[in-house]
Amino acid sequence: MNTLVCTTPGHFSYQEAPQPEPISGHTILKIRRIGICGTDLHAFEGTQPFFNYPRILGHELAGEIVASDSAEFSIGEAVTIIPYFHCGKCIACRSGKTNCCTTMQVSGVHVDGGMVEYLSVPSHALIHGDGLSLDELALVEPLAIGAHGIRRGSVQEGETVLIVGAGPIGLGAMEFARIAGAKVIALDINDTRLTFCGEKIGVAYTINGLTENVTEKLYDYTDGDMPTVIVDATGNLRAINTAFGYLAHGGRYVLVGLQKGEISFSHPEFHKREATLMSSRNATRADFEHVIKCMKAGYIDPAAYITHRVDFGQVKDHFEDWLNPANGVIKAMVSID
Ligand SMILES: NC(=O)c1ccc[n+]([C@@H]2O[C@H](COP(=O)([O-])OP(=O)(O)OC[C@H]3O[C@@H](n4cnc5c(N)ncnc54)[C@H](O)[C@@H]3O)[C@@H](O)[C@H]2O)c1
Ligand SMILES: [Zn+2]
Ligand SMILES: [Zn+2]
Repeated sequence: MNTLVCTTPGHFSYQEAPQPEPISGHTILKIRRIGICGTDLHAFEGTQPFFNYPRILGHELAGEIVASDSAEFSIGEAVTIIPYFHCGKCIACRSGKTNCCTTMQVSGVHVDGGMVEYLSVPSHALIHGDGLSLDELALVEPLAIGAHGIRRGSVQEGETVLIVGAGPIGLGAMEFARIAGAKVIALDINDTRLTFCGEKIGVAYTINGLTENVTEKLYDYTDGDMPTVIVDATGNLRAINTAFGYLAHGGRYVLVGLQKGEISFSHPEFHKREATLMSSRNATRADFEHVIKCMKAGYIDPAAYITHRVDFGQVKDHFEDWLNPANGVIKAMVSID
C-alpha cells in the first residue's frame, strides 16, 4: 500500500509499505478521508514538542471497515476513530478520563497515523458512522475538542461565553457553546477569521483584539457582567495571561489551547473572582457521540469548515501552502479512493 511519511521536519516521502495483518482486538480500516490540523502542520514544521521522525501523520480520520473481530461493527461500515489510544488501566482511565491517560498514544503523533491506505486500530477506538458522510466523520475529532472544552466549563443556557482564538478548535468551541444555549463572543486578532465566525457559524458578537478595546467591548456585550466562561483556543501565552482579566466574578477559565511557557496571573484578581482554572485535553467517547448527534440534528454545518481539498497523491505538494495563513485554510481535507 501507499503511505506518506514525514521523514524529517519539512520533508514528506510517499513510500510503499505492507498492508496491516488482522490481529486480535484490532480493526483494519480502508482510510477514505484525512483532515489536516495544526498538530500535523507543526509536526511538519518541526515545532511540535516531543515529536519523533520518521512519522506517518493523520488523526482526523474516516474510513471503511475491511476486517474486524468486533461483533458490533460490520464489514464495509463507515466509521471514525477516537485517535487517542488509552491504556484502560491508569488512574485517569479508571475514572473514565481516557482523554488524559497517563500513557496516551495518539495516532499520528506517538504512533504512526492515518496517511496510509489501510490502518490497523484498536477496536475500542471505533465510532459508528451513523449515516454521516465521510467528510462529516473526519470532522468529528476536531469538533470533539471544542465540545469537550465546553463540557469541562459546564456551560449553561443563558451564560455568556468568550472564545479566544477563532481557528478550527475555537470555532468548534463556539458551536458547542451556542448549542448549550450560551451567548457567544469571539475574540481574535485576524479579521478574516472573525468574519468567518459571523458569516459561517452565526456568531453575533466579535472583537478584534488588535484594533478594539477588548474590555470595553466585553463590558458592552455583557451589560457589565463580563463572560462567565472563557475558553482559550489560541495557544498564545500573552492571550492566555491577558484573558484572566476578562473573567466575570465566579467565572471559569478553560484552557483548550496549549503553549510551552509558564502561565502567570495576579493572585488577588483571581482570588477576588473566586475563579476556576482548568485545562481541557482531547475528548472522550461522550464528546464524540455529542458531536455526531449535533451533526445529525443539523446544528453544525460541516461543509463550512472544509476550505481546501486534495487527493492523497497531492498532499506532499500542497502541505506547505496550508502553513501560510494568507491562504485562509480552516480545514484541508484529503480524500483516498
Ligand atoms: N485541547 C486539546 O487537546 C487540543 C487539541 C488540538 C489543538 N489544541 C490547541 O488548540 C489551539 C488552537 O488550535 P487551532 O488549530 O484552532 O489553531 P490556529 O492557529 O488555527 O488558531 C488560533 C487562533 O488564535 C488567534 N490568536 C493568536 N494570538 C491571539 C491573541 N493574542 N489574541 C486573540 N487571538 C489570537 C489566531 O489569530 C488564530 O485564529 C492550539 O494551541 C492547539 O495546540 C488543543
Ligand atoms: Zn487534529
Ligand atoms: Zn490510561
